[in-house]
Amino acid sequence: MPKLIFEKHVTNSNPFSLPACDIPLPEISETIPAHFLRNETTALPEVSEVETVRHFTELSTRAYGVDSGFYPLGSCTMKYNPKINEWAARLPGFAGIHPCQSQDTVQGALQLYYEMQEMLAEINGMDAFSLQPAAGAHGEMTGIMMIKAYHQHRKDYKRTKIMVPDSAHGTNPATANVIGYEIIEIKSNERGLVDLEDLRAKMNDEVAGLMLTNPNTLGLFEEEIQDIAAIVHDGGGLLYYDGANLNGILGVARPGDMGFDVVHVNLHKTFGTPHGGGGPGSGPVGVKSKLIDFLPKPVVVKNEDVYSFNNDLPLSIGKVKNFYGNFGVIVKAYTYIKSLGAEGIKEACQHAVLNANYLRHQLRDDFNIPIDRLCKHEFVINSKKQSAYGVTTLDIAKRLIDYGYHPPTIYFPLIISEAMMIEPTETESKERLHEFVDVMKTIARESAQETDKLLNAPQNAVIKRVDEVTAARKPIVKWEAP
Ligand SMILES: Cc1ncc(COP(=O)(O)O)c(C=O)c1O
Repeated sequence: MPKLIFEKHVTNSNPFSLPACDIPLPEISETIPAHFLRNETTALPEVSEVETVRHFTELSTRAYGVDSGFYPLGSCTMKYNPKINEWAARLPGFAGIHPCQSQDTVQGALQLYYEMQEMLAEINGMDAFSLQPAAGAHGEMTGIMMIKAYHQHRKDYKRTKIMVPDSAHGTNPATANVIGYEIIEIKSNERGLVDLEDLRAKMNDEVAGLMLTNPNTLGLFEEEIQDIAAIVHDGGGLLYYDGANLNGILGVARPGDMGFDVVHVNLHKTFGTPHGGGGPGSGPVGVKSKLIDFLPKPVVVKNEDVYSFNNDLPLSIGKVKNFYGNFGVIVKAYTYIKSLGAEGIKEACQHAVLNANYLRHQLRDDFNIPIDRLCKHEFVINSKKQSAYGVTTLDIAKRLIDYGYHPPTIYFPLIISEAMMIEPTETESKERLHEFVDVMKTIARESAQETDKLLNAPQNAVIKRVDEVTAARKPIVKWEAP
């Protein structure tokens, strides 16, 4: 285990020299309440400047991101984050403003905010957008709160259930549950799509709506989406679109045209802004006209050429985020959309779908593909072929780390056993895809001939294979002196 900064301490190495304290002690004790003051001297580690810089520089090289290599993390759309987005977000006119400034001094920012609401509405086929939610799951929460407010406003109090397919991301049932709904699970059929018979049987006047992602978590387009929408709407429910997979239809098809009433999009996935350790997310929510009154307030409106916040929304579900959302992320996504243009975002989607299908085709001889047909932006393989040698999906993922790749998403979706969900995104070249294919083929060969290499992987990483069960049950989250 590499040393922590505390462990690099060398007594009397004299790493710093501070000027004498020029605040008189009585003044300190007057300003800071006594119970916050320590008597003992804190034992800070003594590490020289150069060793400190080396320590943190070394740590920084251990982080893996899209800028370091291929990151095919299914359902996460880890596409390249164009640097022009960062440039725009850093412009002093955006980066230096304060959310409490008066509206007439931030007209440019409000214009960008307004235009972003409009562009997202156009891209998704919705009537209005709120940019407040801070992530996908937060967008889901906002959307389901609006669905609840809609039914309650109509005094339709009987609707206490939300339907969620068995292929759904865990945040969908979790969200509905947090908002107070009971969950009804809808089965997938043998084609990996929503089972219409099951949906029909479970739709009734107690159901508030259905949460769906399309393409679904197998990367498959719900071909019967119009029938699905009709079943839900005819039963008085609403249709919620989880936009995590929007990259698979971006610029080509719109959730609003498919019958969805509420959508959330992930700016940190589809619209090229960093996520994971790379920065905060953003999960704007869009609605059809019948739900506009319930949007979080304020929304940004335009009168003549003046932009302002509209708080006059009596049926609004209220604020869901302090101030107005993660503004820097919104600036990055705005820049992304503007720099690609309508044709560009469509092309991005088409390349994402092409890359996924190309990879699927390249891997099918060596890996089992449970539902092997034309996919959208991602697809799911599993370790069925390798299981004869005692190799699991986890072993394959760990071995990929040895070869310098971030592993794909594993063990999700839950309806496929030993699932590995691969999403290459549009920003990878054919050469990169082939390097990955070569590594996957090598791993398939190793599974049969050098099984130990997989069972003991990763060997080339700083942290070797961890005992995940013990780590989850007995987490050690603070450093203690040996
Ligand atoms: C299908 C799906 N829905 C919802 C979410 C939640 O999004 P977020 O991580 O932005 O909260 C994810 C996250 O990966 C997802 O894959």
